[in-house]
Amino acid sequence: MRTQLLFISALSTAAEALVPRAAAAVDASTIQGKYMFGYQGWFRSPGKGLNTHWSTNGGVPGPGNAVFDFFPDTSAYPSECLFDTQFKYANGTTAKLYDNTCAGVVDLHFKWMQQYGIDGVFVQRFYGALSDATFLTVLDLVQASAEKYGRVFAVEYDLSGGNSSQASVTNKIIPDYVNNIKKYTQSPAYVHQNGKPVVMAFGFGVAGRDLSASDAFNLVRDLQAEPAYVILGTANTWAADVRNNNGLVNTYKLADAISPWTIGAYTDAGYPSYNFHWQQNDTTLTNSLGKGYVPVAWPGTSNYHLSNDLSHLDYFPRDNGSFYELQVNTVMKQKPLFIYTAMFDEVNEGERLNALCFVKET
Ligand SMILES: *[C@@H]1O[C@H](CO)[C@@H](O)[C@H](O)[C@H]1NC(C)=O
Ligand SMILES: *[C@@H]1O[C@H](CO)[C@@H](O)[C@H](O)[C@H]1NC(C)=O
Ligand SMILES: *[C@@H]1O[C@H](CO)[C@@H](O)[C@H](O)[C@H]1NC(C)=O
Ligand SMILES: *[C@@H]1O[C@H](CO)[C@@H](O)[C@H](O)[C@H]1NC(C)=O
Repeated sequence: MRTQLLFISALSTAAEALVPRAAAAVDASTIQGKYMFGYQGWFRSPGKGLNTHWSTNGGVPGPGNAVFDFFPDTSAYPSECLFDTQFKYANGTTAKLYDNTCAGVVDLHFKWMQQYGIDGVFVQRFYGALSDATFLTVLDLVQASAEKYGRVFAVEYDLSGGNSSQASVTNKIIPDYVNNIKKYTQSPAYVHQNGKPVVMAFGFGVAGRDLSASDAFNLVRDLQAEPAYVILGTANTWAADVRNNNGLVNTYKLADAISPWTIGAYTDAGYPSYNFHWQQNDTTLTNSLGKGYVPVAWPGTSNYHLSNDLSHLDYFPRDNGSFYELQVNTVMKQKPLFIYTAMFDEVNEGERLNALCFVKET
């Protein structure tokens, strides 16, 4: 078990030397050049919401139902935010996990962001869980903590489960944005671009999100009319639609910025070639279309919790942060709008940075 806390404290001198952006309040008037992460906020104690991810059934996590590959170090979390699991440490004491609807959890996360130079997060709002009031509990806490620690935030719709041939995705998302989300854009910590609040929507061309060309187009058009600066999380093959003038081409042309999803798309050894063939092409194309380019970087991924195949544990090794460092340092040379790291808190896959201190700013 490797933990964020132990790892960072062991390297804190190096961290201070290499991450100069900590402390100062982040300018929320632009997303340009920001160091942003995705934020799930989906780890909950039993009964706290629909979109809950410590266990398969939302019950008390333990052997047999756990769906996370890393056991987080919870020693820094306030005790009122922890609950008993059915796991025991080697010394026989009951292991505890945290509930993200507890104020102390979000406060600690944003304190860490400030301490380690993370500018802010995109909070994931799932299409299939729009009725879940606990998301707004987390978003309230995010707003308060972002304001307290001088970080920024924005909402990202994850369109998982959206299927235009069953129901218009636009007709569900737009009223939700207007009635539930738009008020958060008044926060001094809600990040803006070109005078408009930034909203991301993820899943264009990605398997499991079945958007028709017209539904996808209408969604982006209607969000922009609110107004919003709209960034699309797309399949990494998005450019083929533009080149071949089919599929979601008109949606991609309408978007303010494009962020192709790359989790699992390359190994450490394969990344330079991937960058050359895909990310450099994407930079050229987004520049020629006059829109922002937002590459995704990730620290490594473990896939055991999804596949139940033990050989998938640590499937894309983190290599002590060097895999992540390679991606960020390489793609930074292309001067993207900003870099999106997946994710701040996806303990499921170990997709959480234990090694921020390795990131050099250039
Ligand atoms: C048992 O081990 C856990 C995890 O290392 C530790 O946090 C806890 O303090 C230990 N408890 C006792 C009584 O030694
Ligand atoms: C979307 O719905 C249609 C009609 O019910 C179905 O045929 C299709 O398989 C669905 N797409 C996905 C990705 O589930
Ligand atoms: C990248 O662009 C080059 C030049 O236009 C093209 O030959 C190549 O197929 C593109 N690569 C991908 C992965 O689309
Ligand atoms: C990661 O760090 C450990 C402990 O210092 C070391 O044994 C290992 O070789 C390192 N691995 C890589 C890929 O750098």
